[in-house]
Amino acid sequence: MVVTGASSGIGAATARAFAARGDTVVAVARREERLKALVEGVAATSPDSGYLAGDLGERGFAERIIHDTVARHGRIDVLVNNAAIPVRKILYEISVEDIEHAFRVNFFSAVWATLAAIPPMLEAGGGTIVNVSSFASKVVPTHETVYAASKCALNGFSEGLWNDLHGSGIHVALVHPGPIDTEIWSKGDAPVGYDGVKHPPETVADAILDAVDRRLHEIVVPRRNPTLGFARLLRLIAPGLVRFGTRRMDPVPEAAIERARARARRGQPLGEDSE
Ligand SMILES: NC(=O)c1ccc[n+]([C@@H]2O[C@H](COP(=O)([O-])OP(=O)(O)OC[C@H]3O[C@@H](n4cnc5c(N)ncnc54)[C@H](OP(=O)(O)O)[C@@H]3O)[C@@H](O)[C@H]2O)c1
Repeated sequence: MVVTGASSGIGAATARAFAARGDTVVAVARREERLKALVEGVAATSPDSGYLAGDLGERGFAERIIHDTVARHGRIDVLVNNAAIPVRKILYEISVEDIEHAFRVNFFSAVWATLAAIPPMLEAGGGTIVNVSSFASKVVPTHETVYAASKCALNGFSEGLWNDLHGSGIHVALVHPGPIDTEIWSKGDAPVGYDGVKHPPETVADAILDAVDRRLHEIVVPRRNPTLGFARLLRLIAPGLVRFGTRRMDPVPEAAIERARARARRGQPLGEDSE
């Protein structure tokens, strides 16, 4: 099986969990040293596991992880599309290039890998694809517009696959983690507004294994969480209240709007201020 984004956080926990029960894992990310350490750490239970290091923002690499896995192991039974980058920036300061890059890593890498995995899965009579989305695609936080949009695209793609792949033997699961304690929180460009509880990445790994084993379609993790459940319900029945609360919790600073106005007066497009 292939797990992308396996050098840290949820992907690393998922790769370890699969390997712990004896599955052969191909761990994918850019940081080779971490992948190597992960594979060495699971060798006792999963001696054939390996890794492929590269940039999933490149279509050629996203396709290669599937082709190499099939060439080396003869099949791909599970693909976990988990790699992603955060984009925590006020909209005024985002460039078109930032947006395209985020979509390549967070959305297109999953599409490229999925399209490459479908033929060998069809040939083998089936398989499972797990797409790791985000609760931020259900209730969109301030500063996370582009990240949420990339995850909403992944949701739409996954929901479409439920219909398109029906009858093929290929199952698609969509997993929406809530706040999980990983390094993603320190990677964005703006400070994080959220300072509540964060759950261990193993919680998501367990849910992914469960989704594969029981062919579940969609899971929010942690499951049966009252705060996430309430937020989803409120988003459905009182979206205006959710918009109000979100903006209060993490407001766009007046100074950022002023900076954007000054750029507009100078005839400059949106993006980071070089001055
Ligand atoms: N943590 C949360 O609270 C949370 C909440 C909702 C959803 N999620 C989702 O859960 C998934 C895992 O996130 P995480 O929290 O575990 O974050 P993380 O620790 O930052 O892991 C992200 C992984 O993606 C890989 N990655 C990023 N860009 C890549 C690229 N261009 N090419 C190849 N690999 C790349 C990273 O590895 P390299 O840097 O080594 O390439 C890393 O292994 C993501 O899809 C994220 O959106 C997380």
